Amino acid sequence: MLRRRRFVGGAAMLTAGLLGNAARPEATTSGAARTVDVALEARTTKLELAGQRAELLTYNGRFPGPLIRAAEGDRLRVELTNALDQPTNLHFHGLHVSPEANSDNVFVQVPPGGRFRYELTVPPGFGGTFWYHPHAHGRLARQLWRGLAGPLIIDRPIDHAAGLSAAEERIVVVKDIALFEGRPRAHVTGDWARGKSGPLVLANGELRPRLVAKTSPIRLRLVNACNARTLRLARDDGRPIVLIAHEGHLLEAPQRLSEVTVTPAQRVDLLVELEPRQDLTLLLKPYASGARREPSRVETLLTLAGAPDLRMIVPPERFESSERLDAGRATRRRSFKMAMAFMHPDGHVHHEPIRARLGDTELWAIENVDTQDHVFHLHTWPFQVWRRDGAPPPYPAWRDTINLRPGERVELLVPFRDFPGRSVFHCHIAEHGDAGMMGIVEVLA
Ligand code: C2O
Ligand code: CU
Repeated sequence: MLRRRRFVGGAAMLTAGLLGNAARPEATTSGAARTVDVALEARTTKLELAGQRAELLTYNGRFPGPLIRAAEGDRLRVELTNALDQPTNLHFHGLHVSPEANSDNVFVQVPPGGRFRYELTVPPGFGGTFWYHPHAHGRLARQLWRGLAGPLIIDRPIDHAAGLSAAEERIVVVKDIALFEGRPRAHVTGDWARGKSGPLVLANGELRPRLVAKTSPIRLRLVNACNARTLRLARDDGRPIVLIAHEGHLLEAPQRLSEVTVTPAQRVDLLVELEPRQDLTLLLKPYASGARREPSRVETLLTLAGAPDLRMIVPPERFESSERLDAGRATRRRSFKMAMAFMHPDGHVHHEPIRARLGDTELWAIENVDTQDHVFHLHTWPFQVWRRDGAPPPYPAWRDTINLRPGERVELLVPFRDFPGRSVFHCHIAEHGDAGMMGIVEVLA
């Protein structure tokens, strides 16, 4: 599938290029106002999945949902129609936008037959690779599992300036599933403790697809939209994978890594170097989360085939330098413990929202006191890791989702610079979030 670009009114840019789907922009723009309009309908759809008929929950009949793409500063309007038999809503995972009113407000519930128009503007500097999924109270895990998730890209001028736009780009949404009698297998009690996963690991709805690449490196924007499965990626030839962004936020410099671990809800932007007429396989290596080890042996996620006329590109050695927050500036410190079925500050079950002051930078010390991984996610306000088990991170980076191994402790710096309002933080093992590992934070002006 060709990457297709469309310039509308000389201002906003739309791209659609999900492999395995016809490239079909779902958005329209209206010239100077730079408004991007998207219509999503959540509905039950029968489609073909890994050679089987399957009835999924989809956006606009597609799995994964259609790509939503806008640029920093654009006004993005997403109209959600709920054609399901249960309430749903949308969360724009990772976007630094208001959590209130009709912006990224997860307290909105759209009843069956209902319609809601979300409206958001991503401020300059906060573009990247994101995704959208439902966030209706107590229903996130089941609706996500049954298929509701799609990619969301906010283009940044820096990507073009940095020479990155010369590389062919593919968006890859990874989602695992288990099918039973033509449907995603229903949750059972144990799933709420371990998180639900399935043996079929699909890349854009396809099992082990083979993609022809036109440039080397090719840029993969990979979204882990699994409920609970962590992806441990490596090349089959043992050469390094080049990581350029976490959660869409560009790093200061590319990192050459022998493997890249992507926990649920995380995104990575990767540069993968290829040779003409040669196949390169991206592998999934076994990952032990404490709750399970999967896959049980090395599997193929997808294959990249170098085109005969593969274009060689020299990607930049450095990107922009990112701001470095300092714990010395933190005005307030909080601590949280994460374990199954509870997530609470200072060791007490917490029902009251946490209250923070707009303008403050807080230091959140989070400890995983459990025997399995937990995936901490804070809405609305991106954060930086200050210390992980006491050590500074290898490079500065903005994050919205961070994994904690059993016994691990991270200290995060959270600047509440803008967007007052009520929002949430939770474990992004989707079942854990629904089972109560979720808290409310309220930022007051
Ligand atoms: Cu992916 Cu609370 O979100
Ligand atoms: Cu968890």
